[in-house]
Amino acid sequence: MKIGVIGLGYWGPNLVRNFIAQPEVSKVIGCDLQESRRSFIQKRFPSAELLADYNDLLKSDVDAIVIATPVDTHFKFAKAALEAGKHIWVEKPFTATSDQAKELIDISEKKNLKIFVDHTFIYTGSIAKIKELIRENELGEIKYFDSVRINLGLFQHDVNVIWDLAPHDLSIMQYLMEDSKVAGVAANGIANYSDHENVAHLSVYFQNNAFAHFHVNWTSPVKIRRMILGGDKKMLVFNDMANLEKIKVYDSGVEMKTAEKIHQALIQYRIGDMYSPKVVQTEALNLGAKEFINSIMENRLPLTNGYDGLKVVKILEASEKSIKNKGQLINID
Ligand SMILES: NC(=O)c1ccc[n+]([C@@H]2O[C@H](COP(=O)([O-])OP(=O)(O)OC[C@H]3O[C@@H](n4cnc5c(N)ncnc54)[C@H](O)[C@@H]3O)[C@@H](O)[C@H]2O)c1
Repeated sequence: MKIGVIGLGYWGPNLVRNFIAQPEVSKVIGCDLQESRRSFIQKRFPSAELLADYNDLLKSDVDAIVIATPVDTHFKFAKAALEAGKHIWVEKPFTATSDQAKELIDISEKKNLKIFVDHTFIYTGSIAKIKELIRENELGEIKYFDSVRINLGLFQHDVNVIWDLAPHDLSIMQYLMEDSKVAGVAANGIANYSDHENVAHLSVYFQNNAFAHFHVNWTSPVKIRRMILGGDKKMLVFNDMANLEKIKVYDSGVEMKTAEKIHQALIQYRIGDMYSPKVVQTEALNLGAKEFINSIMENRLPLTNGYDGLKVVKILEASEKSIKNKGQLINID
């Protein structure tokens, strides 16, 4: 298989490295407008071919094209690649609008081409372990999902902090709570330095009364990457900044007992043991690259596909509408 990579900026080199490492891949062609980025790749990966014009990549014999350029260019490159008969890997967030996402899905289905959306965290050992615990009903029914992703982060010029950071957490939420349907979204935020919000809070309401909250911030003095999942059996804390014991499962919970005669709710707390399950450490992008290649060879949807990308983009779009309307609840169909 031959793979092209458009965009060799911050993230692109990781993609080039991981695709070169795949035994099924015989050639990787990188493409970037900037000569400095092409020569950087040439020095680090001498086996890679390099191009300046993406039209030359479209005309080449690559089977698939990886798109690692800024969000507002994803659609243009993705559509051109699909129309040239190439499978595509698109960085998160999939597209800038849900209409764009739908159009790409439509073309890919007509042409039987694969769309892989890089929801990287789904391929980490930590999220795989949490998914396993949920499948085994270790946590019970998930009642809430509470996520914090804050640090002194790189301001993006084309999107706000929700579009930049929340796709990670939203894709994790979707994967872990796949049986819960999103009903609506409300978001608040503030833009202190540019037109784009640098601090934001996003609430997601589900049809089954579950709830999720996301706090994202590019202007926090401390770096926090923490997620709490409240199940009705057990609760889980995932601290991605921890070197060891990233996941802790708590046998804690709350039970409501009503004293019938006095019509008074009695709350009973359960505080039990805590344990930390073992997590496999493999680079997520390596597993993602394998999944993309296998989905093409086996002619099936990849684990993180265009539909997953569309669901995330719908929430991002709704969050933008809500922020503009001071936190108004926006329904999602
Ligand atoms: N999955 C992850 O964890 C992860 C992490 C970081 C970034 N990303 C995503 O990767 C994408 C790129 O982000 P980045 O931080 O690497 O951006 P970046 O700005 O560092 O790099 C983008 C590169 O694209 C090139 N480019 C732009 N237009 C081009 C064109 N017409 N032809 C060829 N090259 C062109 C630029 O020259 C630049 O080198 C974004 O969608 C971002 O959200 C994903």
